[in-house]
Amino acid sequence: MNDTFLRACRGEEVDYTPVWLMRQAGRYLPEYQSVRSNIDFLGLCKNPELAAQVTLQPVDILGVDAAILFSDILIPLEPMGMRLEFSDKEGPVLSEPVRSKASVEKLIIPDAEDDLPFVFDTIRILRKILENRVPLIGFSGAPFTLATYMIEGGTSKNFLQTKKMMFQNGPVFHYLMEKITDMLVSYLASHIRAGAQAVQIFDSWAGILSPLDYKKFAYPYARKLISEVKKEGAPVIYFVNDCAGILKEVKNCGADVISVDWRVDLSDAVRKLGKKVVIQGNLDPCALFLPREKLEERVKEILWKGETARGHIFNLGHGVLPQTPVENVIAMVEAVHTYGRK
Ligand code: CP3
Repeated sequence: MNDTFLRACRGEEVDYTPVWLMRQAGRYLPEYQSVRSNIDFLGLCKNPELAAQVTLQPVDILGVDAAILFSDILIPLEPMGMRLEFSDKEGPVLSEPVRSKASVEKLIIPDAEDDLPFVFDTIRILRKILENRVPLIGFSGAPFTLATYMIEGGTSKNFLQTKKMMFQNGPVFHYLMEKITDMLVSYLASHIRAGAQAVQIFDSWAGILSPLDYKKFAYPYARKLISEVKKEGAPVIYFVNDCAGILKEVKNCGADVISVDWRVDLSDAVRKLGKKVVIQGNLDPCALFLPREKLEERVKEILWKGETARGHIFNLGHGVLPQTPVENVIAMVEAVHTYGRK
């Protein structure tokens, strides 16, 4: 198996910089659209054969060094008792948001294997198929990012409901975060037991908080989740979107790899996180719309900056956008493999 990605996660010597992309399976791939034309998004997540098929598409088409399970961070909210829908226009919709103590109390901590068997069946299918190819990454949302969806009922602009609960109803917010964290510990442990060889925790909305609020309301739960999941023995990656203002806190989170967005200079991030860090990132997803030569220049610059860390896994600073030309993604992966050779 190509274990370059796993070696990099552990800070070991590698022959070249490994690369994968957040949201590498998805609508920018015609092959994904073709599968999706016959089934809705949630149906696809719940169908292990098809979910495995779309997980493998970017491995075949792009030549990336890791596969990431096809699923969604919101999937475990259904067995917690929430109603989840995906609309093509609005994205995810949770029609009964969590806004009171009573609604937090009602939330169920699911039994991951019993209540979400399709997630772990997909992992088991993928491990068989991927045996001699690349490692498989499992994932979840971070407690804070999941809390925003549960409280807002979907994506938000100002996150007012979330902050209102934090500021006006602190004990209820902390109670919710505890429940989410308990759920995630067993959910991610189950990913690893089913065969995921690394896990990534997505904190897509951590950056909407002031450093003080991040430290008080989000960080303690992310840190607890990371330390519990690390007991399972697989590397843990913590992705923090819009991380520039909170790197001082993130530094001590305990993750094996810290994944940063593109708004921060990669060598600045390494300086702030310390040279012992294994860093992941951080090409602007829109750089995939640059002409080839300019794209390669940016890839080289990030590779060069990544050299300042103990280890570097190349990735975007956030997910691939649906409009992205596939040939540019292929060119980016090739450029990392060409210029990232030691
Ligand atoms: O990375 C991968 O290829 C694995 C699959 C994956 C998906 N979502 C598939 C998906 C992963 C890792 C996610 C994580 C996820 N989901 C996050 C964290 C990463 C990030 O982007 O910040 C978040 C916030 C979500 C919640 C979510 N799911 C939103 C807001 C949306 C709608 C907007 C959008 O980007 O489409 C989704 C839908 C979704 N998740 C799609 C896919 C392929 C598109 C669904 C479709 O086919 O119509």
